[in-house]
Amino acid sequence: MRQNIVAGNWKMNNDLSQTETLITALKKQKHRSDVEVMIAPSFTNLWNAFEALRQSDIEVVAQNMHFAENGAYTGEVSAAMLKSIGIQTVILGHSERRAYFNEDDALLAKKVDAALANDMRVVFCFGEELADRKAGNEEAVVESQIKNALFHLEASAFKNIVLAYEPVWAIGTGETASPEQAQDMHKFIRETLSNKYGKALGDNMSILYGGSVKPANAKEIFSKPDVDGGLIGGAALNAADFYAIVNAF
Ligand code: PGA
Repeated sequence: MRQNIVAGNWKMNNDLSQTETLITALKKQKHRSDVEVMIAPSFTNLWNAFEALRQSDIEVVAQNMHFAENGAYTGEVSAAMLKSIGIQTVILGHSERRAYFNEDDALLAKKVDAALANDMRVVFCFGEELADRKAGNEEAVVESQIKNALFHLEASAFKNIVLAYEPVWAIGTGETASPEQAQDMHKFIRETLSNKYGKALGDNMSILYGGSVKPANAKEIFSKPDVDGGLIGGAALNAADFYAIVNAF
Protein backbone atom coordinates (compact mmCIF):
# COMPACT_ATOMS: atom_id res chain seq x y z
CA MET A 1 0.00 0.00 0.00
CA ARG A 2 1.17 3.50 -0.75
CA GLN A 3 2.57 4.94 2.42
CA ASN A 4 4.23 8.16 3.58
CA ILE A 5 7.74 7.25 4.70
CA VAL A 6 10.72 9.21 5.93
CA ALA A 7 13.92 7.20 6.32
CA GLY A 8 17.14 8.51 7.84
CA ASN A 9 20.28 7.06 6.27
CA TRP A 10 23.03 7.69 8.80
CA LYS A 11 25.73 6.36 6.45
CA MET A 12 29.12 5.89 8.20
CA ASN A 13 28.31 8.34 10.98
CA ASN A 14 27.75 7.98 14.74
CA ASP A 15 29.67 5.64 17.02
CA LEU A 16 27.86 3.80 19.82
CA SER A 17 27.56 6.71 22.24
CA GLN A 18 26.57 9.14 19.46
CA THR A 19 23.97 6.61 18.33
CA GLU A 20 22.53 6.42 21.83
CA THR A 21 22.47 10.21 22.16
CA LEU A 22 20.68 10.69 18.83
CA ILE A 23 18.16 7.95 19.59
CA THR A 24 17.38 9.51 22.97
CA ALA A 25 16.68 12.78 21.15
CA LEU A 26 14.59 11.05 18.47
CA LYS A 27 12.44 9.34 21.09
CA LYS A 28 11.36 12.74 22.43
CA GLN A 29 9.90 13.68 19.04
CA LYS A 30 6.35 12.97 17.84
CA HIS A 31 4.98 12.23 14.39
CA ARG A 32 1.65 11.62 12.73
CA SER A 33 0.53 8.01 12.66
CA ASP A 34 0.23 8.10 8.87
CA VAL A 35 3.99 8.59 8.43
CA GLU A 36 6.36 5.65 8.77
CA VAL A 37 9.74 6.60 10.19
CA MET A 38 12.92 4.56 9.70
CA ILE A 39 16.52 5.10 10.72
CA ALA A 40 19.52 3.24 9.34
CA PRO A 41 22.49 3.26 11.74
CA SER A 42 25.75 1.43 10.96
CA PHE A 43 25.93 -2.36 11.38
CA THR A 44 27.81 -2.13 14.69
CA ASN A 45 25.01 -0.10 16.26
CA LEU A 46 21.98 -1.84 14.80
CA TRP A 47 21.34 -4.09 17.77
CA ASN A 48 21.61 -1.28 20.32
CA ALA A 49 19.39 0.91 18.18
CA PHE A 50 16.87 -1.87 17.73
CA GLU A 51 16.73 -2.51 21.48
CA ALA A 52 16.44 1.18 22.29
CA LEU A 53 13.57 1.66 19.83
CA ARG A 54 11.76 -1.64 20.42
CA GLN A 55 8.67 0.01 21.96
CA SER A 56 8.72 3.01 19.64
CA ASP A 57 7.21 3.76 16.25
CA ILE A 58 10.64 4.22 14.66
CA GLU A 59 11.85 1.24 12.63
CA VAL A 60 15.55 0.42 12.64
CA VAL A 61 16.76 -0.68 9.21
CA ALA A 62 20.08 -1.74 7.66
CA GLN A 63 22.07 0.24 5.07
CA ASN A 64 23.24 -2.80 3.10
CA MET A 65 23.62 -6.58 3.13
CA HIS A 66 25.21 -9.40 1.13
CA PHE A 67 23.21 -11.64 -1.19
CA ALA A 68 24.51 -14.98 0.16
CA GLU A 69 22.92 -16.74 3.12
CA ASN A 70 26.34 -17.31 4.69
CA GLY A 71 29.85 -18.40 3.75
CA ALA A 72 33.30 -17.11 2.91
CA TYR A 73 32.52 -13.42 2.38
CA THR A 74 34.85 -11.69 4.83
CA GLY A 75 33.44 -8.48 6.19
CA GLU A 76 29.91 -9.02 4.93
CA VAL A 77 26.53 -9.33 6.67
CA SER A 78 23.67 -11.58 5.54
CA ALA A 79 19.92 -11.15 5.56
CA ALA A 80 19.64 -13.96 8.11
CA MET A 81 22.02 -12.12 10.45
CA LEU A 82 19.95 -8.96 10.17
CA LYS A 83 16.73 -10.88 10.72
CA SER A 84 18.20 -12.60 13.77
CA ILE A 85 18.50 -9.23 15.56
CA GLY A 86 15.03 -8.11 14.48
CA ILE A 87 15.88 -6.02 11.42
CA GLN A 88 13.11 -6.32 8.81
CA THR A 89 14.12 -3.77 6.20
CA VAL A 90 17.29 -3.09 4.22
CA ILE A 91 18.36 -0.22 1.98
CA LEU A 92 19.85 -1.54 -1.26
CA GLY A 93 21.37 0.18 -4.28
CA HIS A 94 22.40 3.43 -2.65
CA SER A 95 24.49 5.48 -5.06
CA GLU A 96 27.45 5.37 -2.67
CA ARG A 97 27.34 1.56 -2.78
CA ARG A 98 27.12 1.71 -6.56
CA ALA A 99 29.93 4.26 -6.94
CA TYR A 100 32.45 3.21 -4.26
CA PHE A 101 31.77 -0.52 -4.01
CA ASN A 102 31.01 -1.28 -7.65
CA GLU A 103 27.50 -2.51 -7.01
CA ASP A 104 25.82 -2.89 -10.36
CA ASP A 105 22.29 -3.78 -11.37
CA ALA A 106 23.02 -7.52 -11.63
CA LEU A 107 24.48 -7.67 -8.13
CA LEU A 108 21.61 -5.59 -6.78
CA ALA A 109 19.08 -7.95 -8.34
CA LYS A 110 20.69 -10.76 -6.33
CA LYS A 111 20.60 -8.71 -3.15
CA VAL A 112 16.94 -7.84 -3.71
CA ASP A 113 16.15 -11.52 -4.25
CA ALA A 114 17.98 -12.50 -1.05
CA ALA A 115 16.20 -9.86 1.02
CA LEU A 116 12.77 -10.86 -0.31
CA ALA A 117 13.52 -14.56 0.13
CA ASN A 118 14.17 -13.75 3.78
CA ASP A 119 10.86 -11.87 4.07
CA MET A 120 12.59 -8.55 4.38
CA ARG A 121 11.42 -5.26 2.99
CA VAL A 122 13.71 -3.40 0.59
CA VAL A 123 14.20 0.32 0.15
CA PHE A 124 15.62 0.24 -3.37
CA CYS A 125 17.65 3.31 -4.41
CA PHE A 126 18.55 4.49 -7.88
CA GLY A 127 19.08 7.75 -9.71
CA GLU A 128 20.99 9.38 -12.54
CA GLU A 129 24.33 11.17 -12.41
CA LEU A 130 24.80 14.79 -13.40
CA ALA A 131 26.19 13.87 -16.82
CA ASP A 132 23.08 11.78 -17.52
CA ARG A 133 20.81 14.70 -16.70
CA LYS A 134 22.88 17.17 -18.71
CA ALA A 135 22.59 14.82 -21.68
CA GLY A 136 18.83 14.47 -21.16
CA ASN A 137 19.20 10.77 -20.37
CA GLU A 138 17.85 10.77 -16.83
CA GLU A 139 14.67 8.85 -17.62
CA ALA A 140 16.49 6.20 -19.67
CA VAL A 141 19.04 5.67 -16.89
CA VAL A 142 16.41 5.41 -14.17
CA GLU A 143 14.28 3.10 -16.27
CA SER A 144 17.19 0.75 -16.90
CA GLN A 145 18.21 0.71 -13.23
CA ILE A 146 14.67 -0.28 -12.24
CA LYS A 147 14.25 -2.82 -15.03
CA ASN A 148 17.61 -4.50 -14.54
CA ALA A 149 17.31 -4.93 -10.79
CA LEU A 150 13.56 -5.42 -10.28
CA PHE A 151 11.70 -6.48 -13.42
CA HIS A 152 12.45 -10.17 -12.97
CA LEU A 153 10.20 -10.07 -9.89
CA GLU A 154 6.59 -11.19 -9.68
CA ALA A 155 4.11 -8.40 -9.08
CA SER A 156 3.42 -9.76 -5.60
CA ALA A 157 7.02 -9.02 -4.55
CA PHE A 158 6.45 -5.28 -4.84
CA LYS A 159 4.43 -5.11 -1.65
CA ASN A 160 7.79 -5.47 0.09
CA ILE A 161 9.59 -2.84 -1.96
CA VAL A 162 9.84 0.90 -1.45
CA LEU A 163 11.53 2.91 -4.19
CA ALA A 164 13.89 5.79 -3.50
CA TYR A 165 14.77 8.11 -6.37
CA GLU A 166 18.04 9.80 -5.54
CA PRO A 167 19.65 11.87 -8.29
CA VAL A 168 23.36 11.45 -7.59
CA TRP A 169 24.06 15.12 -8.26
CA ALA A 170 21.77 16.08 -5.37
CA ILE A 171 23.20 13.76 -2.69
CA GLY A 172 25.21 15.54 -0.04
CA THR A 173 25.78 18.47 -2.37
CA GLY A 174 23.23 20.90 -0.98
CA GLU A 175 21.74 20.98 -4.45
CA THR A 176 18.22 19.55 -4.45
CA ALA A 177 16.17 18.52 -7.41
CA SER A 178 13.43 21.10 -7.73
CA PRO A 179 10.04 19.86 -6.52
CA GLU A 180 8.99 19.81 -10.20
CA GLN A 181 12.01 17.73 -11.24
CA ALA A 182 11.26 15.28 -8.42
CA GLN A 183 7.58 15.13 -9.34
CA ASP A 184 8.30 14.59 -13.05
CA MET A 185 10.67 11.72 -12.33
CA HIS A 186 8.40 10.13 -9.71
CA LYS A 187 5.51 10.21 -12.17
CA PHE A 188 7.75 8.60 -14.78
CA ILE A 189 8.80 5.89 -12.28
CA ARG A 190 5.19 5.17 -11.38
CA GLU A 191 4.31 4.90 -15.08
CA THR A 192 7.27 2.60 -15.70
CA LEU A 193 5.95 0.28 -12.99
CA SER A 194 2.39 0.57 -14.26
CA ASN A 195 3.40 -0.28 -17.82
CA LYS A 196 5.01 -3.49 -16.70
CA TYR A 197 2.76 -4.60 -13.83
CA GLY A 198 -0.51 -2.70 -14.24
CA LYS A 199 -1.83 0.61 -13.00
CA ALA A 200 -2.86 -0.59 -9.55
CA LEU A 201 0.69 -1.64 -8.74
CA GLY A 202 2.18 1.64 -9.98
CA ASP A 203 -0.41 3.65 -8.08
CA ASN A 204 0.34 1.76 -4.88
CA MET A 205 4.14 2.07 -4.93
CA SER A 206 5.69 4.26 -2.27
CA ILE A 207 8.33 6.38 -4.00
CA LEU A 208 10.69 8.43 -1.85
CA TYR A 209 12.88 11.31 -2.97
CA GLY A 210 16.44 11.62 -1.67
CA GLY A 211 19.13 14.24 -2.16
CA SER A 212 19.68 17.22 0.14
CA VAL A 213 16.21 17.15 1.67
CA LYS A 214 16.21 19.67 4.53
CA PRO A 215 13.57 21.16 6.86
CA ALA A 216 13.40 24.18 4.53
CA ASN A 217 12.55 22.27 1.35
CA ALA A 218 10.81 19.09 2.56
CA LYS A 219 7.27 20.47 2.61
CA GLU A 220 7.31 21.58 -1.00
CA ILE A 221 8.87 18.32 -2.20
CA PHE A 222 6.47 16.14 -0.17
CA SER A 223 3.47 18.13 -1.41
CA LYS A 224 3.98 16.77 -4.92
CA PRO A 225 1.42 14.11 -5.78
CA ASP A 226 3.87 11.34 -6.71
CA VAL A 227 6.34 11.95 -3.87
CA ASP A 228 5.58 9.76 -0.85
CA GLY A 229 8.40 10.86 1.42
CA GLY A 230 12.15 11.03 1.61
CA LEU A 231 15.42 9.26 2.18
CA ILE A 232 17.41 11.68 4.27
CA GLY A 233 21.18 11.73 4.74
CA GLY A 234 22.81 14.75 6.38
CA ALA A 235 19.64 16.15 7.96
CA ALA A 236 18.89 12.79 9.59
CA LEU A 237 21.85 13.26 11.94
CA ASN A 238 20.05 15.94 13.92
CA ALA A 239 16.82 14.97 15.71
CA ALA A 240 15.10 18.33 15.35
CA ASP A 241 15.94 18.63 11.66
CA PHE A 242 14.94 15.04 10.96
CA TYR A 243 11.59 15.46 12.68
CA ALA A 244 10.96 18.77 10.96
CA ILE A 245 11.20 16.71 7.76
CA VAL A 246 9.12 13.81 9.15
CA ASN A 247 6.41 16.32 10.03
CA ALA A 248 6.57 18.18 6.71
CA PHE A 249 3.73 16.26 5.04
P1 PGA B 1 21.68 13.76 1.71
O1 PGA B 1 21.78 12.19 1.44
O2 PGA B 1 20.32 14.01 2.32
O3 PGA B 1 22.80 14.07 2.67
O4 PGA B 1 21.83 14.44 0.37
C1 PGA B 1 20.69 11.47 0.94
C2 PGA B 1 21.05 10.03 0.77
O5 PGA B 1 22.21 9.75 0.40
O6 PGA B 1 20.24 9.14 1.00
